[in-house]
Amino acid sequence: MHSLRTFVLSGLLVVQGACASASKDSSLDKYIKTERAIALQGVLDNIGPKGKKVPGAARGLVIASPSTNDPDYFYTWTRDAALTFRTIIDDFLFGNKALESYIEDYIYSQAVLQTVSNPSGALLPHGTGLGEPKYTANGTRYNGNWGRPQRDGPALRAIALIQYSKYLVAHGKHDRAKKVIWPIISNDLAYVGQYWNSTGYDLWEEVSGSSFFTTHNQYRALVEGASIAATLGVSCAGCGEAPQVLCFLQSYWNGKFYTGNLVEGGNGRGGVDANTILSPIAVFDPAASCDSPTLQPCHSRSLANFKVFVDTFRNSTLYPINDGIRAGQGIALGRYPEDIYYDGNPWYLITVGAAEFLYDVVASWTKSRVITIDETSLPFFKELYPHAKKGRLSRGDRAYAELRDRVRSYADTFVAVAQKYTPANGMLAEQFLKSSPFTPISAANLTWSFAAFVSMTHRRDGHFPESWIPRSGPNQPVVPGKCKPGSAVQSVYAPATAAGAPNITIPCTSTVRFQVDALTYYGENVYVTGSGTTLGDWDLANAYPLLSSNYTEQHPVWWADIPLEMAEGSGASTVSYKYARQQDCGQDWIVEEAERSVNVPACRTDGSEEVVAETNDTYVGKGGSTGGC
Ligand SMILES: *[C@@H]1O[C@H](CO)[C@@H](O)[C@H](O)[C@H]1NC(C)=O
Ligand SMILES: *[C@@H]1O[C@H](CO)[C@@H](O)[C@H](O)[C@H]1NC(C)=O
Ligand SMILES: *[C@@H]1O[C@H](CO)[C@@H](O)[C@H](O)[C@H]1NC(C)=O
Ligand SMILES: *[C@@H]1O[C@H](CO)[C@@H](O)[C@H](O)[C@H]1NC(C)=O
Ligand SMILES: *[C@@H]1O[C@H](CO)[C@@H](O)[C@H](O)[C@H]1NC(C)=O
Ligand SMILES: *[C@@H]1O[C@H](CO)[C@@H](O)[C@H](O)[C@H]1NC(C)=O
Ligand SMILES: *[C@@H]1O[C@H](CO)[C@@H](O)[C@H](O)[C@H]1NC(C)=O
Repeated sequence: MHSLRTFVLSGLLVVQGACASASKDSSLDKYIKTERAIALQGVLDNIGPKGKKVPGAARGLVIASPSTNDPDYFYTWTRDAALTFRTIIDDFLFGNKALESYIEDYIYSQAVLQTVSNPSGALLPHGTGLGEPKYTANGTRYNGNWGRPQRDGPALRAIALIQYSKYLVAHGKHDRAKKVIWPIISNDLAYVGQYWNSTGYDLWEEVSGSSFFTTHNQYRALVEGASIAATLGVSCAGCGEAPQVLCFLQSYWNGKFYTGNLVEGGNGRGGVDANTILSPIAVFDPAASCDSPTLQPCHSRSLANFKVFVDTFRNSTLYPINDGIRAGQGIALGRYPEDIYYDGNPWYLITVGAAEFLYDVVASWTKSRVITIDETSLPFFKELYPHAKKGRLSRGDRAYAELRDRVRSYADTFVAVAQKYTPANGMLAEQFLKSSPFTPISAANLTWSFAAFVSMTHRRDGHFPESWIPRSGPNQPVVPGKCKPGSAVQSVYAPATAAGAPNITIPCTSTVRFQVDALTYYGENVYVTGSGTTLGDWDLANAYPLLSSNYTEQHPVWWADIPLEMAEGSGASTVSYKYARQQDCGQDWIVEEAERSVNVPACRTDGSEEVVAETNDTYVGKGGSTGGC
């Protein structure tokens, strides 16, 4: 600021000769500073019970967005909440002590949520309920049709809670970490160890298979889980699966990029997917070497993958918004090129996620003082530095500094894209239109967008997470010679009562097979609504979805095996129900008029899912009609 002179000219403050600080205080820096504060507040406004945009949300629950229609995101997702708290816990660790009460509320809310039985199952006895993607804003089960289970949630939650536990241990609160928080983490790790080798829905809730993002985070959870378990003097049953998860992780690489989802028989997509950009930043370890099989952002394959992913969106037919932007400059990024949700637009959290990815890459090079360029990563480097060639550059080399600076500037250009499309009030929605007028679209004030922005600023400012990858011992990352499927881990689950979970027991259930013949049109769905929590207590919003998997023209059957939860000791009972048709295009439901009933034998508490009664019905009443939207 030495050459700065200010003087007042007809009431205006004029700043002269500020060029020395111009780069320090560029328009981008100003935007980041302002937006960072807005984004952090945006996150807090969406967390119960005090969040001012989410009245009614229970204590510690992160609501995905205050938007209640088109789309309705007024729910809490285990994934979004955990990613959000990763960032909140980071911000706390970097000095924002005011956030501790939010972290405490989150811990409480997750202990309780783990015990809520839901359409994915229950905590007891087999942990299946932990795979449920979302719950209502007050923490009750959500029965509606959804892509379930989603197996990234428990891994991400464990990772978040482990970060806070490490802080507690380092600050003389070993006991609190062990007695209060570990029981929550233990359930999540048990789930990861038991189910990592089973299919589930991806983070976009559309594809059932194996997701790179899920596997990547599962690996980190198990390795970091084993370390914290050792620190706390407890055991982690599922953590021994880590080497096999690492083995499986390698199989997503197809020679050119990481396939976003591995799906038996394919899923009609090319495989390029933002999930492969978002998980390297979620497992970032600044001390890891770039050739670590943990696939850090600076790994050659991750760099090659980054270029393939970004280049996919340089196509101005796909994304008119990126028309005319040169190679080596940041662009607006979306989930995957075949996306049709809201017509498939760029997302803020992916665009700033790409910047975070590159800041991480630079941090790894700075730490190791080396940049290695190989055949795989060469195209990534050539885009930014046409002279790049294969080899190893070290800190003294001019090309090292040149490359590092170019990658850092490249990162900034992605943030500048977010800046360009951030509305004046700083509110980040989920998406912004890929075509003119490029305005925000889909859920407003998306918590994940805000959290991703704050996380990016941490990395840009040089605040990095602690290292989590062991450099010796049984948990150092070594890929087994041959990949094996998951072993039958016998996991034990228990409610985390010390953190506030109710002391639940195995739910008493009687599984009934509901079957109804109902001719439907494509886009129409059939549900059971009825008495008892499992059938949603006659609340249509919480009716239980049936499957059309066995539907044929000759036999248009909708069905599901539903474990009805009953009061223990209630004996044989009668459950009343009706079938309901959910019409497309937001039309009203159509519900049968007459009540039906089914006799159900006494419930069991052994976790059995054996079908003990079945209905064989034919739908009675008015048929549905398409809304033609
Ligand atoms: C998003 O936040 C803005 C600014 O606070 C507010 O005006 C708008 O109503 C919010 N939208 C939703 C859906 O919460
Ligand atoms: C919780 O939320 C659901 C769905 O929004 C609602 O149906 C239910 O009544 C609420 N329960 C409580 C206890 O507030
Ligand atoms: C299970 O693991 C094996 C061995 O890595 C792998 O071949 C298979 O695709 C995996 N399946 C799922 C669903 O994870
Ligand atoms: C660009 O996008 C359009 C529209 O999605 C697609 O048809 C075309 O194949 C893409 N071009 C390239 C080179 O990928
Ligand atoms: C929870 O209930 C079980 C019996 O179902 C009992 O053994 C245990 O002590 C209880 N735990 C707490 C913390 O109350
Ligand atoms: C539907 O098909 C599956 C697979 O063939 C079968 O296991 C199941 O019993 C069938 N359900 C009904 C209601 O027929
Ligand atoms: C259901 O009832 C129909 C007619 O009563 C009968 O033909 C059919 O076999 C029954 N299906 C089952 C699965 O019991």
